[in-house]
Amino acid sequence: MTIENIIKERRSIRKYIDKKVTFDKIGKIIEAGIYAPSSGNIQNWSFIIVRDTQKKEEIAAASLKQYWMTTAYAYIIICNNTQKIEKLYGNHGKIYSTQNCALAAENMMLMAESLGLSTCFVGAFDHNAISRILKLPSTIIPEIILTLGYGDEKPIKTSRDPIEKVTFFEEYGKKMVDDFSFWPLQKFEKDIKDLREKHSKKVSEFYKKIKK
Ligand SMILES: Cc1cc2nc3c(=O)[nH]c(=O)nc-3n(C[C@H](O)[C@H](O)[C@H](O)COP(=O)(O)O)c2cc1C
Repeated sequence: MTIENIIKERRSIRKYIDKKVTFDKIGKIIEAGIYAPSSGNIQNWSFIIVRDTQKKEEIAAASLKQYWMTTAYAYIIICNNTQKIEKLYGNHGKIYSTQNCALAAENMMLMAESLGLSTCFVGAFDHNAISRILKLPSTIIPEIILTLGYGDEKPIKTSRDPIEKVTFFEEYGKKMVDDFSFWPLQKFEKDIKDLREKHSKKVSEFYKKIKK
């Protein structure tokens, strides 16, 4: 599988089959998280693996009653050591610490996908309840819950905006690369080349047309 396949095929999965995930695989997934970049390489994360049935239920209940979560073989809770980072970065520390954990999570989800496993990023939960269930010290915040297991559903089709809608050049809202090019370049390349060979009046007409 190429990195492109892994990125494009990963989908949130909310139903899992009853099959063990070996520690070897869970270890690889956590290591992928550890290899994420972090501000100043502070690595303000820790990971709690939860497999206990009772605990999984309590956590699902504290996650707005998302009981589908309990079908997952395990949860990996990404915890955020905010104290470590706020000392170093002051006000920016909070956002950096969350960004660092999110980068770890994405690495982990992609590694899981590459190992034939499925995940779902769960962000809707009661932080106090999760802290209590996992006995977190006061300086450690539960940031993200990843459900992990072998998927038992076809992923819901989620759409994505096309690149030309969300990409600008040099400034917000500017869609032209230069006087003659437009994103996505390959889509219009032949038309542009043909038009260039004719005369500039037609080029501007063409642009007026595709800009609408
Ligand atoms: C910050 C964040 C919080 C999320 N929280 C939840 C959640 O609580 N429950 C859930 O089922 N999915 C949650 N998701 C998953 C998104 O719903 C999902 O990624 C999105 O719909 C796109 O679908 P895909 O992951 O299949 O591409 C969350 C994702 C992110 C990034």
